[in-house]
This record gives sequence, structure tokens and C-alpha cells, in this order.
Amino acid sequence: MANTHDRIRAIVWRDEALELLDQRLLPGKIEYRRLTDVEAVAQAIRDMVVRGAPAIGITAAYGVVLAARARYRQSLDSWSSTIQEDLKALAAARPTAVNLFWALQRMENVVAALDDAQDYDPTAPLLREAQAIHAEDIAANHRMGQLGLELLQASPGAVLTHCNTGSLATGGYGTALGVIRSGFAAGAINQVYADETRPWLQGSRLTAWELLQDDIPVTLLADGAAAYLLKHNQVQWVIVGADRITANGDVANKIGTYNLALAAHYHSVRFMVAAPSTTIDMSLPDGTHIPIEQRAAEEVLSVAGQSIAAAGATAWNPSFDVTPATLITALVTERGIVHHPTTEKMARLLTDKH
Ligand code: MRU
Repeated sequence: MANTHDRIRAIVWRDEALELLDQRLLPGKIEYRRLTDVEAVAQAIRDMVVRGAPAIGITAAYGVVLAARARYRQSLDSWSSTIQEDLKALAAARPTAVNLFWALQRMENVVAALDDAQDYDPTAPLLREAQAIHAEDIAANHRMGQLGLELLQASPGAVLTHCNTGSLATGGYGTALGVIRSGFAAGAINQVYADETRPWLQGSRLTAWELLQDDIPVTLLADGAAAYLLKHNQVQWVIVGADRITANGDVANKIGTYNLALAAHYHSVRFMVAAPSTTIDMSLPDGTHIPIEQRAAEEVLSVAGQSIAAAGATAWNPSFDVTPATLITALVTERGIVHHPTTEKMARLLTDKH
């Protein structure tokens, strides 16, 4: 790979099956799981073998390939109707990241176009579409890296990120972490701080591992230390990704993002969201309409299977929160940068020719 700060790929189509780097095992074990049927793909998304909004969408697209192959082999003339069940199962895997529904819609469009030629094996055209979705995501991330770098170059220094938004969370290179890769390579970033990101520890387990694999030094902090860091440590930008962005520019992202945006605003630190246009959901007027995934209490009450809470305590575990557009300095997409997003600016981003 040309860029030495970009070595990891978590989603691989190999020998007619889907291989996923099992993110539940990192950083202790590097193990790819080989999936050959759609049920296993839906379960891998649900169980967070793969996670991160764009990565979930790409994985689901490959899941549709496996589903179509199986349905076609079972019954040549009715695969395109029976596959609807598989599309529903994939859509039900996780609720917040809109990239999942976007990718399934794109695959369904191909299914619909093939419908007329019932006895034609759909595997090859569907695989081409899934691979196109995968490649376009990587290209979008590189473009966001360039655009984000322009913002960083105006005020070089330290950055703070949250969750994991890198090669592990996308087709490759990353969204917020792609901007950080580009910024570090160009000398516009001298220090990367990463929240540990309780309760699933995407920051300490995944972001730290991914950055160190790619020779980018990283300093971890407890999520609760972020406001204090922003007050004292001359962080130039907070840079995060997104799971769903509504028509007015509100952003759903990993729980704790909203806290960071509030703290950044209070301390006059710039707040950047980097996300491909596939994360934008223009059908929702604002963030109050975004379905927020609630995950098992166990994730808060224990770490790596070990209980860490007083016996009998219950837990509240929303996986995402919503940051209002008013707290966002810049939204970086592959279509361009939206400064201080509003409904009008978001509409222009999507309608202007690029
Ligand atoms: O629960 P996760 O790990 O799937 O949540 C991931 C995030 O919130 C990321 O910040 C987001 O998907 C952007 S990834 C490029």
C-alpha cells in the first residue's frame, strides 16, 4: 500500500466468502472470521465482530451477495422474492448507522434490475456492486483526508478523537481517523489523543491498536478526562465520525460525542465531524428522529466477562448520542466541507455538482 500509515483492512472478500477481522478480540488477537452465509453476516454485525457505520454497510452488501448465491442455488426462478427475507434480517442487525440501510437499498436496486432475468445467476453482478460500494468508501475517505487536512493546516497541533473511525470502521483509511492519518503524514498533527470510549472501549482497544500498527503515536485518556484536556492542553481540533447525519446537520455518533462537543464549545476548541455522504439521511429533519440503539446492560456492568459493578446495580447503555448542528464547526464529506451546518447548507451539499 502506498501510504505507510494505512496498512489495515478489516473486510476482505476472498475465495468466494467474506472474511472479517474479529474486532471483539483486538488488540489481544488478530483473527479473521470466514463467513459463507447471510445469517452469519447478520450475526457478525449484531455481535460487533464488525462495527463502524461504513463498515457495517459494506459488510451487509457482501451479505446480500452470499444470500443471493444461496437463494439462486436453492431455486433458480424465485431467488429475487425469497431474498427479501435476508434483506430484512440484515436491516434488523443494528438500528442507528444509516449506511446499513443505504447499502442494502443500493443492493436491492441491483436485485430489482436482475429480476427480469430470473434464470441468470445474480452472484457476479451483485458482487461487482458490493465491491464498488467498498471501493467508493475508501476513495471517499481519502478525499475527506485531503479536505480535512486543509482545515488542520490552518492551525497545526494536537487533536482529540473518540471511538474508532479508522480502517476498522470503514472500507479502509477511515473517516475522522483518515483525516488524522492525512494530518499526521503531512506534519499538521503533532499529537493524537484518543478517548478510551466506554463501555466497549473502541478507543483503547481499536483506535490505539490501529494507529500504532500504522506508526502513529497515540495518547489514551479516560472519557471523563476530555473536558480537562480541552481546557489545558492546546488541542486544536476534536475530530469524530458519524453514524447518521440528519437534514439539518445534527449528528448521531458514539455515546460521549455530545459531551465532547459541549466541552469543545465551552473551551473554544474547533469540532470536526468527518463522514461520507452515505451517512447523511435527508429523510429525517433533525436528530430527535434518529433511532438510538440501546445495548445490553452487561457491557457497562462488566469488562471482558469480569463483573466490575456492585452486584444488583442496573445500567443504562445507549450506544449513541446526538450532537446538535450548532456545536459543529465543520462537517467534512467527500463532496465538500460544510462550515457550521444548517438545513440550507446540507441541501446545497447534496444538490451541487461536485
Ligand atoms: O458501536 P460502533 O462501534 O459501531 O460505533 C461506531 C461509531 O460510533 C463511529 O464513530 C461511527 O460509526 C463512525 S465510523 C467511521
